[in-house]
Amino acid sequence: MDHFLYRNGALYAEDVPVADIAAAVGTPFYVYSTATLLRHYHLFDEALEGMDHMVCYAMKAASNQAILKTLGDAGAGMDVVSGGEYRRARAAGVPGERIVFSGVGKTADEMRTALEGGIRQFNVESEPEMEMLSAVAVSMGKVAPITIRVNPDVDAKTHAKIATGKSENKFGIPIARARAVYAHAANLAGLEVIGIDVHIGSQLTDLTPFEAAYQKVADLTVQLRADGHTIRRLDLGGGLGIPYERSNAAPPLPTDYGAMVKRTLGHLECEVEIEPGRLIAGNAGLMVSKVIYVKSGEGRDFLILDGAMNDLIRPAMYDAYHDIIPVVEPEAGTEQQPYDVVGPVCESGDTFAKRRMMPALAADDLVAFRSAGAYGAVMSSEYNSRPLIPEVLVKGDQFAVIRSRPTFDEMINRDTIPEWV
Ligand code: LLP
Repeated sequence: MDHFLYRNGALYAEDVPVADIAAAVGTPFYVYSTATLLRHYHLFDEALEGMDHMVCYAMKAASNQAILKTLGDAGAGMDVVSGGEYRRARAAGVPGERIVFSGVGKTADEMRTALEGGIRQFNVESEPEMEMLSAVAVSMGKVAPITIRVNPDVDAKTHAKIATGKSENKFGIPIARARAVYAHAANLAGLEVIGIDVHIGSQLTDLTPFEAAYQKVADLTVQLRADGHTIRRLDLGGGLGIPYERSNAAPPLPTDYGAMVKRTLGHLECEVEIEPGRLIAGNAGLMVSKVIYVKSGEGRDFLILDGAMNDLIRPAMYDAYHDIIPVVEPEAGTEQQPYDVVGPVCESGDTFAKRRMMPALAADDLVAFRSAGAYGAVMSSEYNSRPLIPEVLVKGDQFAVIRSRPTFDEMINRDTIPEWV
């Protein structure tokens, strides 16, 4: 559920007409709903009620500080994957004790930043990383709390580019080697082993792969405890999918996910952490764009928008489907026609949808891409020298620009031309 609904024939973001935002900030832009972000956070939080738990928002999904502060103030922790994300979370007021640090390639500098500023735990992904972290922590006179990410070799049944839990993926250590790696970690100075971490992929629409992975984690917990390790925290990753296509069966809800977690892991008396990104931010954001031209091609009509693949890359990168709806509500029974919805960037991959059935649209009409809150703005670029598009946050009847559109000069002046050129 989200808070982008038609009212009196117009699309609203909570209590603000989307067209008013477009008039104020120009198109294209991203707009997020505070109520939707909080609703999704609370759904997860409540789904794990009864277990000692923390919902650590995977901020890679949408990392604007206004979003981080909204969630952080509600009690969320953060899952960060770079020194930049760590700094952003801290700048948004999230305390270090609520930040977990994931990722396969943490540098010594990034480790230092987190150890200095405070960290809940590092989710360590390899033995070389473990050794590096040990050396860094010892050099600072600190002890780094760690979980070790295991790769359970489970097929997440999602798009290959966002599956992470198969043995061919770069993530984690093979679960079969876990006991040896934990023994190694226990012998390294400056590390405190506190638990296990797992994340098998993103946009999962079925609980079965999660359950298979968590069952393996449960078995491993028992084994590692028998080996003498303290396993008191399980980080279960993120990955629960959202309904991009409203006509498809809805994926399981956080409540179903929570019940499965309790069933599979509840008896272990561990604290659990989850790292949802998409489910919190995905349906909390739209990308709004304007039709520049409607062009008739050979047997097809192209809807040429002012938004492009550099602003929202998911369709080009993962063949992802996003609902595209007019900002003026079509009257009931309006006939639909097929459009190829494209952007102005000079490659054919700059296609958002093919043969998408939509009501007839004309130049200057506004459209909204649904489910664009996660992996939208954060994955954008300035390809074709198109300035990054603004982000707007709505709360009730107020809205504010939370990242402004750079001017052309700001964009261009980042280059320097050496005198010898
Ligand atoms: N935890 C870890 C360790 C992750 O790698 C990820 C996502 C998450 C949590 C959050 O997963 P979520 O709940 O958002 O599914 N750009 C792609 C998605 C990449 C996901 C990468 N890791 C997309 O647009 O679909």
